[in-house]
Amino acid sequence: MDAFRISGGFPLSGEVRVNGAKNAALPQMAASLLTDRPVTLHEAPRLSDLDNMARLLGELGVETRWSDASTDQANRGGTLHLCAIDETKSHARYDIVRTMRASICVLGPLLARRGEARVSMPGGCVIGDRPIDLHLRGLRALGAEITLDAGDIVARAPKTATGERRLRGARVFMGGAFGSTVLGTANLMSAATLARGETVIECAACEPEIADLAALLKTMGARITGAGAPRIIIEGVDSLTGVDHTVIPDRIEAGTLLAAIGATNGDAVLRNCPYDAMAGQIDRFEEAGLQVELSGPAPDMLRASVRVRRRTGAITPARITTQPHPGFPTDVQAQAMAMLALGKGISVVTEKIFPERFLHVAELSRMGASLFRQGPTVVVNGVDHLVGAPVMASDIRASAGLVVAGLAAKGETTVRRVYHLDRGYESLERCLRAMGARIERIRGEAVVDDLAEPAARAATMVGDAIKSEHVGAGAI
Ligand code: EPU
Repeated sequence: MDAFRISGGFPLSGEVRVNGAKNAALPQMAASLLTDRPVTLHEAPRLSDLDNMARLLGELGVETRWSDASTDQANRGGTLHLCAIDETKSHARYDIVRTMRASICVLGPLLARRGEARVSMPGGCVIGDRPIDLHLRGLRALGAEITLDAGDIVARAPKTATGERRLRGARVFMGGAFGSTVLGTANLMSAATLARGETVIECAACEPEIADLAALLKTMGARITGAGAPRIIIEGVDSLTGVDHTVIPDRIEAGTLLAAIGATNGDAVLRNCPYDAMAGQIDRFEEAGLQVELSGPAPDMLRASVRVRRRTGAITPARITTQPHPGFPTDVQAQAMAMLALGKGISVVTEKIFPERFLHVAELSRMGASLFRQGPTVVVNGVDHLVGAPVMASDIRASAGLVVAGLAAKGETTVRRVYHLDRGYESLERCLRAMGARIERIRGEAVVDDLAEPAARAATMVGDAIKSEHVGAGAI
């Protein structure tokens, strides 16, 4: 298992380009199941999650191939070609689904085009409970008959008078206890493109990745209005064509870089930055003392150049509550917390999407952060400096938070198990090195992985934190 070794304390500077968005590309790849024509995705990030999705689609009869993959940091990503050549298969097996929850986004397209699907039920996840009840409720509303068999979701579209299996449009409310669902909306919107009649999705997720998926589907011939807002209307069509689409840049990678620049007191420019999709982040990062401004003309506000630096010398305390878009994203919570750990005063971070998503808290505490967690809230008592330490990555974004902390800390930090991070960031170390960071990847064998499982350790340390009220610089 690879690790990152980071020598902290070097301000980030220069200019880097934000990569294509993982969470936009994954449901777009699944949309290749909706047609037998070629689907081409430009600026797709080269990530293990996309490779897993390609493997899954391969088992479902979709041929996938990369081209234009670059080894140059300035131009990461590549072009992904997908084409369904065998439409007889409809079983997404546990072996692949268990590696990545986003596999669930093949369910809607399979059901819509092939009339049936068998998809292994995704299991638990380190960031908390991740039910799929809303996905199933939505597809049932479109007439699907859904049962559970041997751990698989077995779904069939209803039969029409001519005997073909085809979903039918309906009005569906997609809100749950934690708000809307992103992949649930993607699944339902994709499925409804080929249903008979009109589908109205109420309380749809408004994330930019949903709007980008709708843009791709519309180019394929789908009739969709309202994507990006809470009510999406889809008029079903008989078939869809192929598409050539450029994936939007990754607002979560951009947010991670904002936190890293802020934490290291850097001054850098992000090119290809989805500024228009980052209002919730920019608002909170500015509250915390950063200045995030357009650098030069921006004909496309989703692909702008943005300069980031501290407004004054210090990180100032801020309150951050994660929310569905356009609020502050849960996927940047850990990275922002790492930055706020260096704030001049007390910050409060509340997680409203995945209330258990705090595996980074115990690890940041090992680096001298003063954090007190109670339920879904962490009180961050800013410290003067963080200290380098060996820490353990546990999920994609928690790992990114540890990297942000390591870049700012005094001394050396080793972040182990960066395969989590590699799921969501393409060669993050190259990107950071281009901004002057001292970070290197240590290949598997060289890392002695002697620490306990992070989940177990986090549970103990968070428990300790609650008992002792503070785990921080004073406690280590
Ligand atoms: N929820 C339900 N029922 C459902 C679906 C979701 O109760 O049927 C709840 C979830 O438990 C959660 C909330 O609704 O509390 C939102 O979950 P959502 O369904 O929106 O999450 P997701 O679609 O499975 C995507 C991203 C996540 C990101 C979340 C929230 C992808 C591939 N994943 O997941 O990204 O955190 O939306 O924005 O798009 C990541 O990239 O690191 C990551 C975890």
